[in-house]
Amino acid sequence: VPGRQELLGGEGRSTEPRRSKVAIVGAGAVGSTLAYASLLRGAAREVVLYDLDKAKVEAEALDIAHGIQFTPMGTVSGSDDIAICADADVVVITAGAKQRPGQSRLDLAGATIDIMRALVPRLVEVAPDAVYIMVANPVDVVTYAGLKISGLPAEQFFGSGTVLDSSRLRYLVARECGVAVQNVHAYIAGEHGDSEIPLWSSAMIGAVPLLQWGFTVDGGLLDEARRARISEEVVGAAYRIIAGKGATNYAVGLAVVRIIEAVLRDEHRVLSVSSLLEDYLEISDVCMSVPTVVGRAGVGRRLVPVVTETERAGLRRSAESIRSVAQRFGF
Ligand code: 2OP
Repeated sequence: VPGRQELLGGEGRSTEPRRSKVAIVGAGAVGSTLAYASLLRGAAREVVLYDLDKAKVEAEALDIAHGIQFTPMGTVSGSDDIAICADADVVVITAGAKQRPGQSRLDLAGATIDIMRALVPRLVEVAPDAVYIMVANPVDVVTYAGLKISGLPAEQFFGSGTVLDSSRLRYLVARECGVAVQNVHAYIAGEHGDSEIPLWSSAMIGAVPLLQWGFTVDGGLLDEARRARISEEVVGAAYRIIAGKGATNYAVGLAVVRIIEAVLRDEHRVLSVSSLLEDYLEISDVCMSVPTVVGRAGVGRRLVPVVTETERAGLRRSAESIRSVAQRFGF
């Protein structure tokens, strides 16, 4: 491939059977951090970056490649030729319009959908069997548009959705309650954006339902006011980070590697990814996040948690908000 930079880790190419390959589209802050995180965690043996900006994509790949002595076995390469994505097992799309301070994710829909019209058919041509993970925002609208443009089965094309938001929620609950974040089981569902819904009624801390959790680190209750503050902090998280540093990249990088691992290792892990819903709590024909089983084929069963009437109505409103934006752009 012309203009391609490739460096091997450790002992170089071995005689092992086919290596797992992840193709990352877009070498901006999110794509590059995702490539770095994938190598650090040993998620895939081969990571490739594709971007229209040749100098940038080659430089990002080279910078990461110079550190692979210190990572699990892997390779990384970068190119402005889409052929570098050929036969990937997973394709992650991070290319899209950039969210500026003061803009909501939904404001980016038109520009990012235009990018998908050009990009997705070419990707499907070189990597028809890959599982596709959309990360570009507004991720739910763009996943729906990308899925329709791709013509692929719905299991094979989904979005990173609220995996990151659920992680932000768990972080805040863990901090308030003085427990490890790994012991908080709580999901944000709906839009990855302003209308998202924390599923408080099904949340657990260790063996205790979150709504029955009696004390926090300062001795107060995890009451409604406190939960409302946590929700607001989750919804405002990206705005705050974008105001401070122009983009979010680290946590989203880690969240997406977790999704990639669930696919490549066929883990059947329950993650709040965004996928096409059909008759889920009476919601159909929209891509949005709900707790979903993720494995080698992509998305599997969508789990239906216990929800209150308020949560259910919130999810319907969130679906409406995503659908109305998708329709505005002809999807
Ligand atoms: C985030 O939530 C901006 O969607 C991006 O970090």
